[in-house]
Amino acid sequence: MSYIAQLNRGLPEIGLGTANLVEDRATELIEFAIKTGYRLIDTAPVYGSEKAVGLAVKKASGGGYCRREDLLIETKLSNEDQGYYSTLKAFDRSLNELQLDYIDIYLIHWPIPKDRQSDYKELNRQTWAAMQELREKGLVKAIGVCNFLPRHIENLISDGATVPAINQLELHPEYQESEGISYCREKGIQVEAWSPFRNGKTFSNEQIKDFSSKLSLSVSELVYAWNKSVGSVPIVKSNSKEHIKSNFEQCVSAKLLSAEQLEEFKVFDDPEAHMGYWNYKRQLAY
Ligand SMILES: NC(=O)c1ccc[n+]([C@@H]2O[C@H](COP(=O)([O-])OP(=O)(O)OC[C@H]3O[C@@H](n4cnc5c(N)ncnc54)[C@H](OP(=O)(O)O)[C@@H]3O)[C@@H](O)[C@H]2O)c1
Repeated sequence: MSYIAQLNRGLPEIGLGTANLVEDRATELIEFAIKTGYRLIDTAPVYGSEKAVGLAVKKASGGGYCRREDLLIETKLSNEDQGYYSTLKAFDRSLNELQLDYIDIYLIHWPIPKDRQSDYKELNRQTWAAMQELREKGLVKAIGVCNFLPRHIENLISDGATVPAINQLELHPEYQESEGISYCREKGIQVEAWSPFRNGKTFSNEQIKDFSSKLSLSVSELVYAWNKSVGSVPIVKSNSKEHIKSNFEQCVSAKLLSAEQLEEFKVFDDPEAHMGYWNYKRQLAY
C-alpha cells in the first residue's frame, strides 16, 4: 500500500525538524512554524521535543490556525524499544507525551540497535508486526522507517508485510544516497531528507555556494530545488523565525533542476560525508 494510500494524502513540500530546538523556545517556534504554513512536524523521543510538539499543536489548532487533521505529526520508535511488546509500550509513551489521540506517521528510527547485529532481522520484523497492528487499529495513519538501506527494507517486507510508507534518510548535497532514492521510488516509498543542510555545514561549502550563485539561487533555494527534483521532502530545523519562514516560502516555490544541472550536482556527493553517527557505521556493515 503506497504512502498516499496509507495517509489518504501526499506529504507537503517541507517538514519541520525539532531535534536541538532551544528548549525553552521549542513550543513557540513550532507554533510559529504551523502558523507560517508547515503541516508536517518531525519529532522523536530522543529529541525530547514530543511534549513541545503536542503543546504547539494544541495552541495552533485551539487558536484556529489549523485543524488537528490538517497536520501530520511524525514521531519515531527508539532503538532500545524495538521488539513487539516494547514497540506497543513505546508508542503509548509517545502518544502520552504528545497528548494526542493518534499519530500520523510512526517511523522505526534505525534498523540495527546496539548489540543486535546478529538478530536485528527478526527484531525488525517483530517491531514491524506491532507497527502494522497500530495502523490497523487506527492509532497511526502511516508507518515507515528511517535510515534503512534497501536490504533492511527487503527483510522487513520479505513475508508480504506492509511496505513502509516513508524512509527518512540523511540526505544533503554531500550525501546524495542515489541508490536508496531509486530503490524507494521503485517501491513507492516516499523519501524524506534529514539534515538537508548537513546540520548547517552546507552553507559554508564554497563549491556549493559557487554552484548556487551560477544558477542565481541561494544555497537554501538550491537545496530545495534539488530535493524537489529527486522527489524528497526536506525536514529542516531552525531556531530562527526568519529562517523558519524563508525556508517554508523557498521550499514551496522551488523549481525543478534540469537534467544537466542534476548531473552537475553529483560532483558534491561524497560517500564519506555522512554525519558519522555510530548508528550509521553499524547500519552500513550489516
Ligand atoms: N531520522 C534520523 O535519524 C534523524 C537524524 C538527525 C536529524 N533528523 C531530523 O532532521 C531534522 C533536521 O536536521 P538537523 O537539525 O541536523 O539539521 P539541518 O536542518 O540540516 O540544519 C540545521 C542548521 O541549519 C541552519 N539553517 C536552517 N535554515 C537556514 C537558512 N535558511 N539559512 C541559514 N541557516 C539555516 C540552522 O541554523 P538556525 O537555527 O540559525 O536557523 C541549523 O544550524 C532534525 O531536527 C530532526 O527532526 C532525523
